[in-house]
Formats: sequence, structure tokens, C-alpha cells
Amino acid sequence: MAADETKTNQDNVSESQIAVHWKEEEYFEPSQKFIDQANLTDKNVLEKFGEDNFPECFEEYADMLDWDKRWDTILDSSNPPFFKWFVGGKLNASYNCIDRHLAKHKNKTAIHFVPEPENEPITHMTFQELYVRVNEFAAVLQDYCGLKAGDTVTLHMPMIPELAITMLACARLGVIHSQVFSGFSGKACADRIVDAKSKYLITADAYYRGGKLLDHKEKADIAVKHAEEEGQHVEKVLIWQRYPGKYSGETPIVEGRDVFVNDIIKDYYHKVIEPVSLKAEDTLFLMYTSGTTGKPKGAQHSIGGYMAYVTGTSKYIQDIHPEDVYWCMADIGWITGHSYIVYGPLALAASSVIFEGVPTHPDAGRPWRIAEELDVNIFHTSPTAIRALRRIGSEEPAKYNYHFKHMTTVGEPIEPNVWRWYYDVVGKKEAVIVDTWWQTETGGFLCSTIPGLHKMKPGSAGPGVPGIYPEILDEEGKPLPKGCGKAGNIVIKNPWPGRMLTIWGDDERFKNQYYTRYNRDPESKDWHDWPYFAGDGAVEAPDGYFRILGRIDDVINVAGHRLGTKELESAALIVDEVGEAAVVPVPDPIKGVKPHVFVSLKPGFSPSPELEKKISDTLATEIGPIAKPGRVWIVPDMPKTRSGKIMRRVLGSIAQGNDTGDVTTLANPQIVEEIKKLY
Ligand code: PRX
Repeated sequence: MAADETKTNQDNVSESQIAVHWKEEEYFEPSQKFIDQANLTDKNVLEKFGEDNFPECFEEYADMLDWDKRWDTILDSSNPPFFKWFVGGKLNASYNCIDRHLAKHKNKTAIHFVPEPENEPITHMTFQELYVRVNEFAAVLQDYCGLKAGDTVTLHMPMIPELAITMLACARLGVIHSQVFSGFSGKACADRIVDAKSKYLITADAYYRGGKLLDHKEKADIAVKHAEEEGQHVEKVLIWQRYPGKYSGETPIVEGRDVFVNDIIKDYYHKVIEPVSLKAEDTLFLMYTSGTTGKPKGAQHSIGGYMAYVTGTSKYIQDIHPEDVYWCMADIGWITGHSYIVYGPLALAASSVIFEGVPTHPDAGRPWRIAEELDVNIFHTSPTAIRALRRIGSEEPAKYNYHFKHMTTVGEPIEPNVWRWYYDVVGKKEAVIVDTWWQTETGGFLCSTIPGLHKMKPGSAGPGVPGIYPEILDEEGKPLPKGCGKAGNIVIKNPWPGRMLTIWGDDERFKNQYYTRYNRDPESKDWHDWPYFAGDGAVEAPDGYFRILGRIDDVINVAGHRLGTKELESAALIVDEVGEAAVVPVPDPIKGVKPHVFVSLKPGFSPSPELEKKISDTLATEIGPIAKPGRVWIVPDMPKTRSGKIMRRVLGSIAQGNDTGDVTTLANPQIVEEIKKLY
């Protein structure tokens, strides 16, 4: 399997000499007001974190934490690529996110919980209350379940504060949590239970999404059944109730297996569990992510290195101060939520917002009402969400009295015109924007501007963040010169503390997936010979800013010219009527493949052959005749996952007239038939 992944990557890499057509954009300067309060304004920081000071530079991040015992070795690189950070050090993540703040901040809000229904009040949990609730649940895990450091548990929880409580209770004991995104099916959850060998599943009975209270417990039944079939016995399912004291699920409770946390926790009220002192290189959590093959892989993250890295980057790149109200609209079921809703912000004693619902429900004004009510000043979201909010509510932000000082975009390349809407309309021309490029595997940010120091450039993530030395390599592993305009594969030349330890249970796959591609000598004990292969295409501008083009398998090769799907989509979005666009490669007998463009329109516009032509012509004029789409499909909406990503695989099948396969896990499965009927 691992070998297959490497092969796939190599096949793709051979196409990496591509022209890149996004224009270089004008810079935007951070405001003096922002700079005056920024955490990081030291112009020498990149030098301080430069190769001459590596790895000692990362002590600055580790020193932001409280350690039970200081480390003896900053970086143990004796067994590449299995690098270990802060070896000999001991600490506890839960202590660092909660206990250490009590002296100064016990009455401060740690978590603002925003339920989806607007008639339910927002709740505000102080650090003291979080401390009490985490201790009580840690007691349940330890005394009721018999769990101890090094055991695994699988969580399949929605966006409710009990998810953060559960993670922090696990961390208090050293129990390794593996949270599965709540929108995933019971079957997907089962695969992750089996791989992690969890004997306990922690879930919730129900949650709100898009105006409906969804039964979630039914997924636990499916998950346990499938896990059982694959040989993993789940002893107990612990169920948090969305409304404590009331069961909101629809499936019957399985006697002896299912227990309500809200019942059993009564026996542990006011119990205090001392945080377990753990080794820096022990495991904090697993986060499953897709590879090029079907089997999900568990990115295994450490306690010391990960905590140091997310705390340092939260402080310097997110510019979090304890007095900030910070809202990351991602789901905690993804790495963004782990690093930048829970662990990073709470380690810095910020108030972090957990929002249960869909940002566009009941209308596109909802996020801005929340921002106004809580006086949020740091906002963090994805281009997909920004595009959706722009499409249906481009005038909404101006109606609300909120002011962001800082905004983040993460997860995909952001088209410059979407970036500008984010800056002008959402940020009201007051907020800085950081475009942060990173991955599940990397624990925290890799490329981004430093908000109080660097100019912003729409469409570009920026240079490597402090202590990260990215480089673009060609097929042979030769660095491409800065500003040459050619794309290649982005690698990180050095180890860094936030990087995953390995793939859970599969060291070989870890090595093959991320290191074999550009390793210079498999016997070498020198980290310089082990660049991290990220699997993304990128270009580096003369100013040292990196623009990420997407996965190397997201690139379309039209008659030997590679075009990033994102570039094509960006061009389609220039057309006024277009709200969202997705491009898929479709085989073509003459050109190899041709891009097909799927678009949905902003409200008030209707499909027409003229509009199809306008979109097609825009692509040709913006990028070149090679980009002329094989076909423009104007559709009522895009098939999307529950997390809001457009399912290009489904669009590709529709475009080719193929079977679309199982679409039941989509947020809007009915759209597939609707599109097919139209064409
Ligand atoms: O292709 C890159 C894209 O998302 C991938 C990582 O996805 P995941 O592990 O799910 O983590 C998402 C949250 C960090 C990357 O390989 N990606 C991530 N951030 C950006 C991005 N592409 C362009 N610009 C970004 N800022």
C-alpha cells in the first residue's frame, strides 16, 4: 500500500513542470493599529528561527508551556525520519490548557458555545468550570472505564463543548483520543475504531445542523456493529446528551453497552484528577486523514512537540492574546479544530468559540450576528465558507457591528477576488488576513505571512513560518529557482515540533508517503537528507512567497499543459453571475483531458447558452485557449460533503456519464439526480 502511494505521487510528479497563470497581486499592508498590539513585530524573527539557530530556536515555543520536567535534548534526529522533540521533558496538555490559567483567569470565559438554534442562548464556560467538568469526566474515564495513559478511545462527537471537555479529560490522563468528524458515517467511524483498537466509543445523542436536530446515536450502533465484524469489540458507548437529562436520539439504548455520561458523571461530581505527567514524545491524539489509497491513516501527534508548536503559532500567526475572543469556524473533527479551536487558543488562555451549526443557516447573516454578540475579534475560516457566504450574502457583514483585527483562511487556495471580498467586506478593510498552508500531518502552520510584519498578497500563503524552511523541488529533487514561474513539489527541508510522530501502526507507510520521494540516502542519520514531501504543487515568487496550487493529483494536464483546477475555478468566478465553480478533468480523445466547469449561479441569475459561452470565453481569455473548457455545466447547486467541500469526484462521474457511486454521505445527495436530469 505504501509503495503504491509513492508510485502514484511519482507518476504525478513527473508532470510538475507547469505554467501557472494566477497573476502576481498587489500587496496589502497591515494597519498600524494592528502592528501596535501584535505579539510578533521583531524583524529579526526569521533570522532568529533560521538554520543557524536550528533546532534551539524552537525552545521559544516550548517555553510558552509549563513543564513538569525540562527536556534534556531539543531534537533527537538519530533515527530519521522518526524525529523526537524535547526529549526527557515531561508535561500535561490538559494542565497547560486549563490549570495553569486558574490563578489569573479562572473567571474568564474559556469556551463560548453557540447552539445552532438562535432561540437557545449562547453559553459561556469559565476556565474554572472547564476545570471542574474536565476533572469529572477524567474521573469517569479513569474510574468507570478503567482507562489509563497510552490507551486509545474513539470520539464521534459533534460541535458541542463536551467535545473539548472529552479531549481535555483524555489528555489529562494521557489517554489517546481519536476524534472522528461527526458528519462521517457510522461505517467510517468503525474503520477508525478498528485501526485505533478502541474499546470505548464516546458520542452524543443528537445535534443541530441546518435547522434539524439530527439523531447521532444511530451512527454509534452502526459503528459498533461494523467494528465487531472486523474483530474490534467495543465494550461501552458513552453518550453525552445534547439536552442533559433528556434522550434526543431515536434508536433504542443497548442495555449494558450504552451509558449516558450525564447519569454516570453524578458519581464523580467534584472529583479532582491530578494531571498525569507524560513524556514529551508520548501521543496526545490520532487524527485520521485520507491518503492516495482508500485506507484512512491515523496521524499520530505528540504531546510536547505538538503543544509547543500550536501554542507558538497561535501566538505569533493567529496573534492570540488572553483578552481576545477567537472564533475558528472549522469543525473540531478536523486538525484545524484540534490545533486552533482547542489546544492552541486554550493554551494561551483565550476565549474560544464553538459553533454547532451551519454558517449559512438560517441565513448568511448568522456568523456576523454571532461575531457582534460575542465581540469576536479574531476570525478563522476556509475559502469554501467564504465563497458560500459571499455568494448568498455579500452585503450581510456591513449590517452588523463587529470588528475583526485578524482573519485566517485555511484549507484550500483562495482565489484573489474571493480574498478581496473577505478583506473588504468581512474584514471591513480593518483586519489583517493570514492565508495559512498546512496539513493534518503537520500539526500546525507551515507557510503564512506573519501578520504584524509581512505584507499580505491575495492568493499566496506567504513564506515559511518561523523555523520552517520550504523549498520547491523538481522531479529529480533539484530546487527550482525562486521566481522562475514554474511549479514543482513543495517540501519542508527540516523537522519541526508539530509534525506527526508517525502513521499509527504503520511506520513504513509514514516513511514511504512523506520521505522516500526525496530522501537522499536511506542510511543517512542527518536530517538534511530527509525533506518532508507534502504532496502539494506550489510556486515560489521572487519575494519568497509560496502559492499553493493544491494536491498534485488536483492538477489537470491538458495537451501536456498543466492547469491547476483552482486557477480555472478562479477564472470562472470572475464572471459576475457565478457563485461557485468546480473544475474536473474529463478524458478527451485529442487533448488527453479537458477541463469541465461546473458552476452554480448567484441568486437572481438563470442559466442560458449565452452565459455558458461567457464563462467559457472568460477562461480562455484569462488563462489562454488551452483552458477553454470542454463543457460548462450550470447546475442548481454543487454536490457537497457535510463539511462543505465540493465533491469533484461526483462531478467527474456526472461529466463522464459514469455511475456516481454511493452518494448517500453527501450533505445534498438529491442534487446528483437533479443535475443528471438537466443534462
Ligand atoms: O492541498 C493542501 C490544502 O489542504 C491540504 C491539507 O488538507 P488537510 O490535511 O485536510 O488539512 C487542512 C487544514 C490544514 C494541503 O495538502 N491546503 C491547506 N491549506 C491551504 C491549502 N491549499 C492552499 N492554501 C492553503 N492555505
